[in-house]
Order: sequence, then structure tokens, then C-alpha cells
Amino acid sequence: MTLTLIFVILIACPLEFTGAKWTYNGPDGEHNWSSNYPFCGGAFQSPIDFQTQLLRYDPNLPPIQVQNYNLSTNEQLTLSNNGHSVQLSLPSQMYISSFPQRYSAAQLHFHWGSSNLLTGSEHTVNGKRFAGEMHIVHFNSDKYPNISMAVDKHDGLAVLGVFIEIGEFNPAFDKFFKYMNGIKYRDQKIQVAAFNIHALLPARLDEYYRYDGSLTTPPCYPSVLWTVFRRPVTISRKQFMALATALYASNAQESTTVPLHGNYRKPQITDNRVVLVSFKDGLYGILSAESPFQRKQVIQKLLVGDLADLADEGLYQLLPKLGSQPGKDKKLKKSKKEGHWSQATRKEQWSKNKVQSNTGYSSSVGKNTPTPWYMGAFDTAKGICFVSLEENVMHQLDKYHAKGLMVEALREVVFPELNLRSYLHCRSDLDLQTIRKLVQGRSRDEAAELEQSLAEAMLKKMRRQINQHRNPNMKTTIGHPQATVPKDFNSALTYHRPQRAEWED
Ligand SMILES: *[C@@H]1O[C@H](CO)[C@@H](O)[C@H](O)[C@H]1NC(C)=O
Ligand SMILES: *[C@@H]1O[C@H](CO)[C@@H](O)[C@H](O)[C@H]1NC(C)=O
Ligand SMILES: *[C@@H]1O[C@H](CO)[C@@H](O)[C@H](O)[C@H]1NC(C)=O
Ligand SMILES: [Zn+2]
Repeated sequence: MTLTLIFVILIACPLEFTGAKWTYNGPDGEHNWSSNYPFCGGAFQSPIDFQTQLLRYDPNLPPIQVQNYNLSTNEQLTLSNNGHSVQLSLPSQMYISSFPQRYSAAQLHFHWGSSNLLTGSEHTVNGKRFAGEMHIVHFNSDKYPNISMAVDKHDGLAVLGVFIEIGEFNPAFDKFFKYMNGIKYRDQKIQVAAFNIHALLPARLDEYYRYDGSLTTPPCYPSVLWTVFRRPVTISRKQFMALATALYASNAQESTTVPLHGNYRKPQITDNRVVLVSFKDGLYGILSAESPFQRKQVIQKLLVGDLADLADEGLYQLLPKLGSQPGKDKKLKKSKKEGHWSQATRKEQWSKNKVQSNTGYSSSVGKNTPTPWYMGAFDTAKGICFVSLEENVMHQLDKYHAKGLMVEALREVVFPELNLRSYLHCRSDLDLQTIRKLVQGRSRDEAAELEQSLAEAMLKKMRRQINQHRNPNMKTTIGHPQATVPKDFNSALTYHRPQRAEWED
């Protein structure tokens, strides 16, 4: 009966962008977005805080290249106030050309602070919030006919994020900032002459943060490949004030006017995500991303191959680092303290989303949405995020009451898609739990051998960290000088203290 009810409600009032009311403050504020928009309480949410320990230098990230951004002044663009932001429509001939698939532009919009709080960017860098942030939204036009079809697909959107700082006057932004008074109220729109959109971007397009995330507003679909440029652009204080004070979130007919400012969402948990960065200068002790190919090799060998040639070093390179990646227990405690999700509640939320999707939720946006399974973190082809892979496999095992078939299930889930999908290929560290499960599936002596390699690799890494701790000036690209060594030392020892009987016949 409950399901029928949900079904009826969803059919009667399909959720869409302008669907249920949401705001940044009050009862419909972000804490409650997930009541009407379940994905807002789901995985892979944005924005996030770019903390140094999340960053992985990836030398394969090319400079961002865009095409047809220099629009003719004969062209008209729609500038609008949608009650949540100021938005400029963009023609789809503009596109990002540095991705394997073409992502065509749809619109750009802003997030900003207020006249008495000048900080309002969504992404932050080690907790630092910039004055504002611009988002240039693109959709995968190779695969989807328009943005509404792409918005809820795992590979649907790519957004370029630009931090905005208060400083020098920016003539490019004034091309449309000067018309702000024409769209003071919600739902107002005007036409403005197009201009060179490229001039809104920072000078350096080769330095950026890259990660998998979501829309930062309801319905929060985890469909966004994020690129946030490292270097901010500037606008003058006067320009910022115009943005922060000119607009209302209420429409012209409403008796009470609600100012439109402070329209940013707070940072979301990163869970098992890492952030790839295209730069490493100025970042001390940053780790490098391992190549997806290397990960694939390891998994393949764990599943089917000869473990003898999986040398210590190969495995060692893929181990999650000690210290900045807390163990599961630690993480759980932390999650609770911060009111974030534990693994269990995340799973629960996922099933909730899935149920809702099955009752017609996802089809309200895209009729051809194959199944909610393909959304965001739970896309099987995205299985190289090992933690979600593991959840996926566990789910299958539960479904078939087939415990102990982890390896079989992994084989089924991982192949043949492993390493085929997407730009990033791999977003999370190879989870130690996954390695262990795979190891357990191998024949006894092989498993023992590998277990020993793992233990040795961990100990080696730990020693290196301790040395680094004692001698912090020692230069190395791996390791975290900030790590609290005694704690890690203990947990690593507990975890890897050899239990001789296990592998010494
Ligand atoms: C959250 O939103 C729901 C649905 O719109 C509403 O019924 C509920 O009262 C809200 N909760 C809070 C704490 O504001
Ligand atoms: C943009 O195009 C206009 C002509 O439409 C041209 O005059 C201008 O130099 C171009 N700007 C850049 C930066 O290429
Ligand atoms: C997007 O494409 C779909 C499928 O071709 C179509 O049904 C829908 O009307 C389009 N939506 C818009 C807003 O153009
Ligand atoms: Zn945005």
C-alpha cells in the first residue's frame, strides 16, 4: 500500500528541476533536501573540501581545452534569475574537447556569499572558502540528445568550476553583471548579447582538481565529472556587491522579498573518493595516482593469475597509505561524531533510493533511464571503485544467499568492464579489504605467500613513514609527514602481525 501511494504521488507530481520547493535556509534548507530529493542524501555528493590528503597527482590529466567559446556578439543569450542563482544560457556548439567524449555547454551560473559575508564558493581548499564560484555546465552530447536526458546518467555531465576572488575589476563578467537589475526577481529573464566566454576562465587551464560528484542543488544526481580550476579569477568588490545585493529569491508578486545570496551547499563527505590533481608543485608529500592498468593487472592476477610474479613492490604501490586514510573503525567513529554516514546507513540509503527508483522515481526525469543501478556510484561498469564494487558484490551475494562466493561474484561483476569505463578509470584506492577477500579465494599456499607480501609491504611502508617522521626534511613523493605515527604503527602491527601458522607449513 505504501508503495502504491509513493507511486501515485510520483506520477502525480513528477520531480523535476523546478519541482518540490527547496532553499538554502529554513525548513526546506539543505539538511532536508533529501526528504524530497533522495539523491541529496546519497553517495558521490558535491561540493567537497579539497583537503591535501585527498589529492593524488595524476600526470595523465591534460590541460582543459574548450572549443567555440568565443561567441559572436550577434548571438543572444538568456540571462535569468531562477530563484537559486543567476544563470546564463549557453549554445551547445561550445564544448570541452579534452575528454574522450564531447561535452557540450548548456548554461553557466554562480554561487556566492553575501554583503556581510564575502565567502560563498561551494568547493573549498583545505577549508578555505572563496568569495564565489562559477559553474559552466556541459552534458555528454555524444551519448545524450540534450541535458535533460543526460542529467541523471553517471556519465551525463561535466562541470567546469571556477573560484572567484575579490580583487581587480573583471570586464568579462561585466558583460552580463551590468544587466542584473533586469532580473531582480525570481523567474525573470532577459536577452543579452553574447561575448567571449573564454574570458571568464582563469588563465591557467592546466591546473585543476578532478573528481566524481553530483549536482550541488536538488535533485543532486551523482552525474557530474567535476573539474575545478586551481587558480581563481577576480572580480572587484563592487562587482561582487552587485551580485550579492541585486537579486531576490522571491518573485515580483510575492509580498515578502527574500534576498538571493549565500547560495552555496556545505561540503559533503568524500567517503572513499580521492581527488585527482593535474599539478603537484606547492603540495608537499602528495601521492601519485596509480594507473588503472596497474590496478587491473593486480586484480587480474588476484583472480586468475600466477601470484608469484606479483612482486612485493607491485602490491606495495597499490596499498592504501597509512595515516591519512584511517582504518574502518576510526572512520566510523569519525562519521558518527560529524553526523555523517556510516557504511551501514549509506547502504540503507542506497536501497531507499533504489526502491524509489523502481517505483518510477527515476523515470520521471528520463523515460529511458535503464535502471537505477546505473546511477553514480552503483554503476557496475564503474566497478573499479572498489568499495562500491564490494557493496555491489555483497548485494548480489545477499540476493542469492550465496556466501563465500566473493571471488566468483567479483569475476562476474568486474569483467569484462574493468578498466573500460570513463575518463577517470579509478577513483578510490584499492581497498585492503578487497585484496584480502581476493586473497582468501586463492589456494592456500598462494594466499599465504601473498598475505606475507602484503604484511611485508605494509611494514616497509610503515618504517619509511617512521623514518620520515624522525627526519621530516627527507624528500619523498610518497608518505605523509603529518601522519600520527604511533597510532598507525599500532594498527598496522595489529593488522599485520604475522600469524605464522597461517602460512608456514
Ligand atoms: C522536511 O521536509 C519535509 C517534506 O517537505 C517536511 O514534511 C518536514 O517537516 C521537513 N523537516 C524539517 C525538519 O524541516
Ligand atoms: C573573438 O571573436 C571576435 C570576432 O567574432 C574577434 O574579433 C576576437 O579577436 C576573438 N577573440 C579571441 C580572444 O579570439
Ligand atoms: C530531450 O530529448 C528527448 C529524447 O529525444 C526528448 O523526448 C525531449 O523532449 C528533449 N527535451 C528537451 C528539453 O528538449
Ligand atoms: Zn552550481
